[in-house]
Amino acid sequence: MSNHRIMDHPVLGKLEKTEEITFIFDGKSYTGFKGDTVASALLAHGIRQLRVQEESGNPRGIYCNIGHCFECRVTINHVEGVRSCMTPIEHNMVVESGRLQPVPFKSTEADKLPRTYAEFERGLHKEDDPHV
Ligand code: FES
Repeated sequence: MSNHRIMDHPVLGKLEKTEEITFIFDGKSYTGFKGDTVASALLAHGIRQLRVQEESGNPRGIYCNIGHCFECRVTINHVEGVRSCMTPIEHNMVVESGRLQPVPFKSTEADKLPRTYAEFERGLHKEDDPHV
């Protein structure tokens, strides 16, 4: 077990050890305790990066930790977009971090689309509009 877990909290007291659970994250085996979420178990091992922003590649991890922001989404047992902060770990669970997408989400045609309503109304494409 890693040394990042708080075992004796000044307010909450000592952490009672429960059943140890082994799971896989990006091909490597980790352990957590029953009741851990995927995010808390990984954080206990010092792992803060859970994915990257799909287009830019910037690192992402826990943000709200209450299931609202989806910043912690990972792939669990081949299901994409699962919130790691809301998902309890299970024996032999296979977790994969999100990675940079090989193809940008943005359409290659996006730059040719009108950017303003006036452009749209005139039916002009950016490359045809001398004012853009
Ligand atoms: S950290 Fe916000 S949904 Fe998980």
